[in-house]
Amino acid sequence: MAENLNIDQGNKEEKYRVLLPQIEALIKNEHNRIARMANISAALKQTFNFLWVGFYLVENDELVLGPFQGPIACSRISYGKGVCGKSWEKQIDIIVPNVEEFPGHIACSSLSKSEIVLPIRTNEKIIGVMDVDSEQLNYFDEIDRTYLNQICLWC
Ligand code: SME
Repeated sequence: MAENLNIDQGNKEEKYRVLLPQIEALIKNEHNRIARMANISAALKQTFNFLWVGFYLVENDELVLGPFQGPIACSRISYGKGVCGKSWEKQIDIIVPNVEEFPGHIACSSLSKSEIVLPIRTNEKIIGVMDVDSEQLNYFDEIDRTYLNQICLWC
């Protein structure tokens, strides 16, 4: 197992390109989903210094807070509520360029300005979401969507 993360000093895409094989190596022999999600959160936080990066897991009709890195966060989100609940309900990735303009956005930190949420599927069924928050407005784009979706396949 890699003990040190090698962080590329280039642009966003170069950082992801260097990071992905390391994440794959880090989690490929780990069968426990929580352990995989914990190290994925840490690796993304370490590489991009996102404000918040982590997971919410489906439990009955709610999302429950899973492994994450960043400030404390709300522990439960109802189906269809906030960006996370909406991503679960609609079964789609959601990029929010400006959280203040997303109706029903749940503000866990006033420092969060933009956000991306991606569903995590096992056998076609959504079992949770990955949520990433940035302190920059309009941070997330198709590059994040592509690489984070790849990471979600390993969750
Ligand atoms: N902003 C999210 C809530 C989770 S926190 O950002 C960590 C939402 O609206 O669902």
